[in-house]
Amino acid sequence: GFLRKKVSILILGLDNSGKTTLVTHFLHPPAAGTAGGEPAPPPVVPTVGFSLDRFNWGNLGITVFDMSGQGRYRDFWEHFYGDADGILWVLDSSDSAHLQRTKPPILIFANKSDVPGCMTPEQCTAALGLDTIRDRNWNMIPSNAITGEGLAKGLEWLAAELS
Ligand code: GTP
Ligand code: MG
Repeated sequence: GFLRKKVSILILGLDNSGKTTLVTHFLHPPAAGTAGGEPAPPPVVPTVGFSLDRFNWGNLGITVFDMSGQGRYRDFWEHFYGDADGILWVLDSSDSAHLQRTKPPILIFANKSDVPGCMTPEQCTAALGLDTIRDRNWNMIPSNAITGEGLAKGLEWLAAELS
């Protein structure tokens, strides 16, 4: 075997954006060859506070802090920044009313990209003003946390940044 590099990823985003659904996918990926028509993933409930999970990805041993996005828990976030090697932001691209200007993220999943009428990654990028960010790398990847579409692509990018 080989030693995995240990990294911590902080998962942020407003409540109901799909953070926990997305993490569940990394912890329990669907069996190979079952993309589409696979059994429904276990139901998720709104996160209370945060939940801590671990999984391996290539040469990385990843610890994820899946934060609650609810307003009353958002004050927690800042206490986790110091230990985070990377930040993963999940945006509900189907809910433009809930979208608000936020701190510069590193990886953004424009989740629920399967919902008809959702914003394109370009529209999300423009809505957040990401083009003006110069002090760090960022990437916007459309995703569907239920089927897993886009998730590997996004995490590959973040993993490369952290390797
Ligand atoms: P908090 O823990 O409250 O911050 O919410 P969360 O960001 O963890 O959201 P959660 O994973 O609990 O998902 C909220 C709802 O969105 C659930 O009903 C999910 O099934 C649904 N959902 C998550 N991802 C997707 C997606 O990609 N597409 C669609 N259509 N629904 C999704
Ligand atoms: Mg959650």
